[in-house]
Amino acid sequence: MLDLIVRNANLPDGSKGQDIAIKDGGIAEIAPAIKGEAAREIDATGRLVTPPFVDSHFHMDSTLSLGQPRLNESGTLLEGIALWGELKPHLTVEAIKQRALELCQWSIARGTLAIRSHVDICDDRLLAVSALLEVREEVKPWIDLQLVAFPQDGYLRSPTAVDNLKRALDMGVDVVGGIPHFERTMSDGAASVKALCEIAAERGLRIDMHCDESDDPLSRHVETLAAETRRLGLEGRVTGSHLTSMHSMDNYYVSKLIPLIAEAGLHAVPNPLINITLQGRHDTYPKRRGMTRVKELMAAGVNVAFGHDCIMDPWYSLGSHDMLEVASMGLHVAQMTGVAEMCSAFDAVTANGASVMGLDNYGLEPGCNADFVILQAADPIEALRLKPARLFVVRRGRIIAETPPVESRLTLGEERASVDFSRPIL
Ligand code: FE2
Repeated sequence: MLDLIVRNANLPDGSKGQDIAIKDGGIAEIAPAIKGEAAREIDATGRLVTPPFVDSHFHMDSTLSLGQPRLNESGTLLEGIALWGELKPHLTVEAIKQRALELCQWSIARGTLAIRSHVDICDDRLLAVSALLEVREEVKPWIDLQLVAFPQDGYLRSPTAVDNLKRALDMGVDVVGGIPHFERTMSDGAASVKALCEIAAERGLRIDMHCDESDDPLSRHVETLAAETRRLGLEGRVTGSHLTSMHSMDNYYVSKLIPLIAEAGLHAVPNPLINITLQGRHDTYPKRRGMTRVKELMAAGVNVAFGHDCIMDPWYSLGSHDMLEVASMGLHVAQMTGVAEMCSAFDAVTANGASVMGLDNYGLEPGCNADFVILQAADPIEALRLKPARLFVVRRGRIIAETPPVESRLTLGEERASVDFSRPIL
């Protein structure tokens, strides 16, 4: 007896009419017309079943704090950092946990079941670390939450960050963070990258740095990050987040840089919603977009995932943790409107994010965890177009969220009609 069968599913790889059999929290079989009985059946009726959405770059310690203690009047990155500094002395473990847990409920409802969150370690009390370590345990049945020790005010620039980062890792934070472009000098930035990579190598941890989140084309810390990754043999374990300066770099230099990033097996995580709103702020017109070179990195074989970064916090007032909104913005900003490119944008909020986080047993294959989302859409491109209802969100074979199909009914004179936004696929 199976636990669950999903019938007549479309899969992200384009296959149709597939049944998915689930037993003991895992995927037992995927094939057309599976025989056998299950405790529960769901008829997907030709809708898309996808592995869960993954947000590989987020800040859960600041989320849902919008307006505390005031709003970001300029909307800039630097005022956001200053505002976060004003809020930090007033934080409590309880308040951070409450906001984070509320956000996790939003995530589950949107089918986002894996999140990598940076956590600021520059407050000597490490309240946010304590709070999010508790949240990581509490949400474990539903969400894979990975934490990054993030020196928001600079690893070398902030007087106690070196010690605090070590303390945070000792407390159980998963990943080593950094912010080299925020150090006082280029050489301090490079020194921070080197020191942080050595810590990760010693402890056997992954690395995820905010790297070159700037419009300055000479902010080139990703070069050092890639070189240190190779020197220390950390290939596949290191992520460069944002990488916005690459947007403004000289093309000749980038033609040398991207192969270095690819050889180092670096993951790249741009954050389209945030990059398009925070970068280019010193420009008049034309204004730079500020998102890194997504298509070119992907073409070179670099794993690129999109992150949400912020939701209702000092840096960004909007968002509901819908990773399809992120992917949609990413494909627009990067001009990825070819069919294969749009599918790549879908991968950037699913499988590619799982690769960044190093998630085990992620995917729709026999032997993988029975974690998936059934969408009110036929395929990844329709999902990007409609950002549809997440009809069922399933974790380890158990339904953990349901949203009824969205239907609009029109009354036009005597005629009544319902609107169907789906269209035949070419
Ligand atoms: Fe960030």
